Amino acid sequence: MSETAEIKLDGQTYNLPVVTGSEGEKAIDIKGLRGETGYITLDSGYKNTGATESAITFLDGEKGILRYGGYPIEQLAEHSTFLEVAYLLIKGELPTKEQFKDFNNKITRHTLIHEDMKQFYEAYPRKAHPMAVLASMLCTLSTFYPESQDADRDIDSVDLTITRLIAKISTIAAWSYKNSVGHPVVYPQNKFNYIENFMNMMFSMPTEEYEINPVIADALDKLLILHADHEQNCSASTVRLVGSSKANLYSSISAGVIALWGPLHGGANQAVIEMLDKVRKDGGSIEKWVEKAKDKNDPFKLMGFGHRVYKNFDPRAKIIKKACDDVLENLGIQDPILDLAKKLEEVALRDDYFIERKLYPNVDFYSGIIYKAIGIPTDMFTVMFAMGRLPGWIAQWQEMINRKEPIGRPRQIYTGPTVRDYTPINNR
Ligand code: CMC
Repeated sequence: MSETAEIKLDGQTYNLPVVTGSEGEKAIDIKGLRGETGYITLDSGYKNTGATESAITFLDGEKGILRYGGYPIEQLAEHSTFLEVAYLLIKGELPTKEQFKDFNNKITRHTLIHEDMKQFYEAYPRKAHPMAVLASMLCTLSTFYPESQDADRDIDSVDLTITRLIAKISTIAAWSYKNSVGHPVVYPQNKFNYIENFMNMMFSMPTEEYEINPVIADALDKLLILHADHEQNCSASTVRLVGSSKANLYSSISAGVIALWGPLHGGANQAVIEMLDKVRKDGGSIEKWVEKAKDKNDPFKLMGFGHRVYKNFDPRAKIIKKACDDVLENLGIQDPILDLAKKLEEVALRDDYFIERKLYPNVDFYSGIIYKAIGIPTDMFTVMFAMGRLPGWIAQWQEMINRKEPIGRPRQIYTGPTVRDYTPINNR
């Protein structure tokens, strides 16, 4: 007999089904609860709510485990490439050599964006944050491909939209940067692989040859892999929620970009560097800023610390810390910000406040230092995160559509005034 959970409400006992995942995770299925009992469950911030069953990514926050399609993140980061991982997330299996060749070719052939889109770039203020430009441009793609409006279209046209998104996001991202510094945009070139192409569009100038450093290309590829999916986080849930209304894929992804932008989510990578810079300019006293972070009357938080699900360590942060050392060593860079970051980590990890609350450095703590060393400007950091997360968002959206999930629509407990009569303000 299948397992059930017993719940007692108003003197009556109800049995609710228990759902077990492939890694033994358990959930109480409360779908029928309100219909049977009149009760809903309350969980602000969805701290204990499973929004879906998903076969894409497994995460055990207590043990610091992250796997895409069963493959440990450590192995993927060490041995695979970002495009292979994108294929894995979207198709559910790693590609064969032939499948990869075909996938890679398709992505390479779709990197150009419509010439008319250049006009939009010119219209944005130079100071526009590249995340705003990225989100707008991704949504704008839907205006150039109106046939993509229907989320329930045949597989081939959904496939084409997915190809376009992965191919064009790197061009859109690099052009957002070029526009922000007032430099001419650089067109994609098919002779490069995915990451080299992005680097060339970001860094090459009409005035001089740009040479791609393979150590940097490798580090960037690794960073994209580490960011590629993270199950039901704020932005992935946003993509699924927006997509559940049958909004088109471009717009659903654009909404995900906006959710990612916030400093409590992907925007933390920019906030970490800004915070470390502030600490440095303030004299470099780590202890002072740790005390501020602990003070409940002070809104300051240690950016890059803490995570909703990781309560031991963030496996991505471990990999990034090593990659960070490698890149800085290769480039011969001694960054005082890195020294501050290491000291901050040391002090915080010894402090009871952080130990009791299980607050550890997360993925964003070290990624900014690598981006900075590579020459990526601070306000582009979260754009890098978005490029990495794109395959995950696509996979989450696709799974939601394929599972025919209903429109996302939570309930609430109303706490406002009870019924009262309207009094017109203009009656004399
Ligand atoms: N500095 C100081 N105190 C913190 C921090 C921090 N960075 N993070 C959490 N706390 C405290 C928090 O005040 C609370 O204390 P208390 O129990 O006394 O009220 C306790 O730790 C639990 O925190 P919470 O806010 O209930 O945890 P949450 O799961 O709601 O929030 C978080 C998770 C990531 C939003 C939060 O830890 C945070 O704001 N961190 C800084 C921003 C950051 O680095 N975000 C990137 C997350 S990783 C990238 C991604 O995948 O999005």
